[in-house]
Amino acid sequence: MKLLNLNITFEQYNGLQELNEQDTMLCQLSEQALSTSYSPYSKFRVGTAIRLQSGETVLGSNQENLAYPSGLCAERVALFTIGANYPNAVIESMAITAQTDNFEILKPVTSCGGCLQVMAEFERKQGLPIEVLFYCLNGEILKVQSVQSLLPFSFVEDRLAARV
Ligand code: THU
Repeated sequence: MKLLNLNITFEQYNGLQELNEQDTMLCQLSEQALSTSYSPYSKFRVGTAIRLQSGETVLGSNQENLAYPSGLCAERVALFTIGANYPNAVIESMAITAQTDNFEILKPVTSCGGCLQVMAEFERKQGLPIEVLFYCLNGEILKVQSVQSLLPFSFVEDRLAARV
């Protein structure tokens, strides 16, 4: 038996004033995206803004459904919008924020495993890292330089041995 260890590095900021201009703008756009959240069931709004290498920005928000599992997270709404409309685009960075009237959110809300898996595949497909910012409207921001830091053990086909 071998005991192995993985280290991840992430950045922590106290507020938008500590970010560079591009990241500040992306966080602000993720906040704007909250307004299109359709979340009558959870009453938990999630907004995402994704910056492409072309300079364009794509927004997403969570979209729920009375048949609960049919809804989709904000991150996947935005990522699949890019897949469908900008299939060759390179994603540079994405910002995610959340809001609810039911309680105060004190820390950045991080993405669910399903969204991380989808982000990981976009990153692998484009062969360039995607920066991810989790923005708490109260101020704190967490940033990673790559999805790899969030999901080092994503499901990838190169771990599946081909039978010949
Ligand atoms: N949600 C997201 O949009 N992103 C995540 O990463 C986790 C959760 C949404 C799904 C649902 O509409 C609401 O938040 C409550 O779970």
